[in-house]
Amino acid sequence: MVSDTEMLVNKVNIIKVEVVCRNIAAGSLVKKFGFTEGEKLGTPIVEYYLKSDELGDPLFTEDHIFALGLANKYDMDIIKKMTLRINDLLGKFFIEKGIKLVDFKLEFGKDKNGNIILADEISPDTCRLWDSETNKKLDKDRFRFDLGEVEEAYLEIKNRIV
Ligand code: TMP
Repeated sequence: MVSDTEMLVNKVNIIKVEVVCRNIAAGSLVKKFGFTEGEKLGTPIVEYYLKSDELGDPLFTEDHIFALGLANKYDMDIIKKMTLRINDLLGKFFIEKGIKLVDFKLEFGKDKNGNIILADEISPDTCRLWDSETNKKLDKDRFRFDLGEVEEAYLEIKNRIV
């Protein structure tokens, strides 16, 4: 933040891959693969989704990414490494605030020098965040499943992290 109303940003060419990282089973992992909601995953699961509204953002593999020319192996190795590092940092950050980082979605872009950088937001819209003690959902699932207290949940996250 340069000031209260200004933010310094980098222009990137967005890579059309949505990267999801999961620590606890929820959402489409439960729906598609039969995991039990709340089940802790032994190791984080990283998934890739094609960023395409027309095609409904399908789950796809690295081979699809290469075939579509969206990124190469070198790029994807960096993206996966960065995702797992972000997961470590973010998970530790949230747990100190009494919040479990269940899963989240990231996007990456390339800057003018060809460097891959994290792009887009990280927020309760793009993460699943549960209270550590009660497992209360403090994220967009309150809106998705009409659970009420959407604004209160987002404020709770804000109050815990500022
Ligand atoms: P999912 O369980 O519905 O696949 O979502 C996994 C994570 O990705 C969850 O934290 C919400 C986030 N997400 C987005 O940010 N945008 C999306 O369009 C979708 C489908 C999920």
